[in-house]
Amino acid sequence: MTAQIIDGKAIAATIRGEIKTEVEAMQAQHDKVPGLATVLVGERKDSQTYVRMKKKACAEVGIASFSHDLPADISQADLLKVVQDLNANPDVHGILVQLPLPDHIDEEEILSAISLEKDVDGFHPINIGRLSMKRRDPLFVPCTPKGCIELLNRTGVTIEGKRAVVLGRSNIVGLPVAMLLLHRNATLTICHSRTQNLPQVVHEADILIAAVGRPEMVKGDWIKPGAVVIDVGVNAVEDASAKKGYRLVGDVDFAEAKEVASAITPVPGGVGPMTIAMLLRNTLDGAKQGLA
Ligand code: GUN
Repeated sequence: MTAQIIDGKAIAATIRGEIKTEVEAMQAQHDKVPGLATVLVGERKDSQTYVRMKKKACAEVGIASFSHDLPADISQADLLKVVQDLNANPDVHGILVQLPLPDHIDEEEILSAISLEKDVDGFHPINIGRLSMKRRDPLFVPCTPKGCIELLNRTGVTIEGKRAVVLGRSNIVGLPVAMLLLHRNATLTICHSRTQNLPQVVHEADILIAAVGRPEMVKGDWIKPGAVVIDVGVNAVEDASAKKGYRLVGDVDFAEAKEVASAITPVPGGVGPMTIAMLLRNTLDGAKQGLA
């Protein structure tokens, strides 16, 4: 069997088109556009790239973006002040503090300071708490997990009653995507570095979400024939034949897995573009709340 390739790039482009239409309607009817503030602390290359991509995507759909590029040695108090000012700014409907923050910053305090109504990343402890409980809808759901579910929805995959295995338990992906699968009535297993017999556990999955950050760790024979595989990993591996000297691979050995799975996301071009599309969606939804 050769799997259907789930084209996240194309699905995300469709979603961005839907958002652009809604933003244009908002501007026409209310003379207002959604606004996203990006807060970047320090000079990590990967974070700079992600933030640049997020701002570019905003511009393409007509969402205003407000950049705050701050020095790596900013104090906790000064960073808090930036967040508080953005909370008070009526043109800003979403606040994105790019993670990770430098070690001297108390991340939880910063994320807790973001107004719940502007928490478009969904990382505020109250939004995460609500996500983790039954019938307590968070105002916003984290973007990468939301993108994974949207990929399953738009590919026509049934989640209810299926065995879902999440590989990884990070705050940003593993934990929230597990909660979303549970809310959709999947039977859920969360695996991590201490899981015993990992290949056998993964082999039980009808739906596998891989988010551990280990290049090509999941081999073809770990995967149940016909499973749906969502690969969240983005890992740079050396490749002398590539122009940049490296190439990006997922957490799943794609060449092997596509011969076993029924559907699989590629890396790049799978989950990555969906994260940004969901950020735009959350920002638009935040701006719409203000119109109600
Ligand atoms: N770092 C890695 N992924 C994310 C994300 O989705 N949002 C933020 N703010 N930081 C990240």
